[in-house]
Amino acid sequence: MTSDNSTPLQTGLLAAFNKSVQQKTVRVGVVGLGYVGLPIALLFSSKGICATGFDIDENKVNLLRQGRTYIKHIPDAEISGALRSGRFQATTDFAELRSMDAIIICVPTPLDDHREPDLTYIQNTAESIARHLRPGQLVVLESTTYPGTTEEVVLPILERAGLRCPVVPYTVENGEPAGADSGGADFMLAFSPEREDPGNPKFKTHQVPKVVGGVNAASALATKNLYEAAFDRIVPVSSSRAAEMTKLLENIYRSVNIAMVNELKLLCQRMGLDIWEIINAAKSKPFGFSAFYPGPGLGGHCIPIDPFYLTWKAREYEFPTRFIELAGEINTSMPHHVVDRLAEALNWRSKCLQGARILVLGISYKKDVDDLRESPSLKIIQLIQERGATVNYNDPYFERLHKMRQYDLGLESVALTAESLSSYDAVVIATDHSSYDYEFIARNAQLLVDTRNATGSLTQYKNKIVQA
Ligand SMILES: NC(=O)c1ccc[n+]([C@@H]2O[C@H](COP(=O)([O-])OP(=O)(O)OC[C@H]3O[C@@H](n4cnc5c(N)ncnc54)[C@H](O)[C@@H]3O)[C@@H](O)[C@H]2O)c1
Repeated sequence: MTSDNSTPLQTGLLAAFNKSVQQKTVRVGVVGLGYVGLPIALLFSSKGICATGFDIDENKVNLLRQGRTYIKHIPDAEISGALRSGRFQATTDFAELRSMDAIIICVPTPLDDHREPDLTYIQNTAESIARHLRPGQLVVLESTTYPGTTEEVVLPILERAGLRCPVVPYTVENGEPAGADSGGADFMLAFSPEREDPGNPKFKTHQVPKVVGGVNAASALATKNLYEAAFDRIVPVSSSRAAEMTKLLENIYRSVNIAMVNELKLLCQRMGLDIWEIINAAKSKPFGFSAFYPGPGLGGHCIPIDPFYLTWKAREYEFPTRFIELAGEINTSMPHHVVDRLAEALNWRSKCLQGARILVLGISYKKDVDDLRESPSLKIIQLIQERGATVNYNDPYFERLHKMRQYDLGLESVALTAESLSSYDAVVIATDHSSYDYEFIARNAQLLVDTRNATGSLTQYKNKIVQA
């Protein structure tokens, strides 16, 4: 609301947009149908709003059109149900963007070979949208990125189409974007970070509060209104930059805390202390302590990558991001530590890593998901191979390891029988999938190197279990 209560925000394009949300006639396009985009498109569709998914990957679009999934935790039935409702479709035809009222961008934001932000996916998507942009549309970027991307990268590309969306500062009062109009915008633009935690059974997409920040108040309000139709709670902030930074704060918080606990694990091992016992004791404190757990290194598309988006941007301000760098250094050293512990454990048994046969359990970057991006398991396998051992792996989510940008391991998942387990000189638990029978594994393995404390309670086998 403006001070004179003349509600310029409620006029024109915003009013029309809000009406379409209210009447559920708003058409939502989601660009990039991966781990983030597909659940969002399905969520809007489940809330009675027509959602169209856009992807350049024809295989994904074809599978979706047949009602078939390619993401383990999204069942076929959810996709076929959405198709039957008539409120979900998938396409590779970007000309259809023109008929959308809101366009949500969920494309990848990786690092390039020099570990710098690779915004080509966002740029390409913005260019596709610009070709079909029309007055009154709302564009929301959800891909994780550095503060300024929406205004400095996406906005200029969209404005090439001749339409305008001025950057106008606004405030948030009582949870509502307020204080200025949209400066006569033709279209609206906002950032809303994605906080999806794939495979987390505790939180469904709609239960995770949605932070939104616009390049002007009208954009923020339109985004808030749209997302209120699908999400339980919206948290508006005063700019797209603030929304971008919020997501990075969350991920840097995780990266730094995981690094700290990883470092303390190394110290505890040297001091003959059990870090897991200590974390469990510390978390009995009802305030001021959040438990983070050590592991074989960071994985996934977010935590190992996103902090470096900020490091890159901070250089523009001559500001060194020391916590981020240090956390990155510690976390990337963890796979090396695991392999050193493995070599040491074999050494105690008068064996050496060179020529040994090693089985690695779990390839996903975290338990119970079918995602191996940046997985430390891949690095561990590569390091063991480099040290002259033969490595096999087992993972219920990956029958074989296809060639990847950094890895070409050429392996297939082996069966987990008593006979096969006992045939390896050592078994490394890299990812603690719930489907593993850890008692069976510990009983049959000659030596078990456990990076996740999956076998912490199996004290009867403690002579052959090494925490790493
Ligand atoms: N996966 C997560 O858990 C997670 C959580 C929070 C945030 N994020 C962020 O969300 C964004 C998307 O991540 P994701 O895991 O869904 O990625 P993903 O790789 O699973 O999916 C991205 C999709 O975008 C498609 N795509 C690429 N370029 C395109 C283009 N020009 N036009 C249309 N489609 C295109 C790809 O084919 C793919 O289907 C990233 O910025 C990521 O950092 C991911």
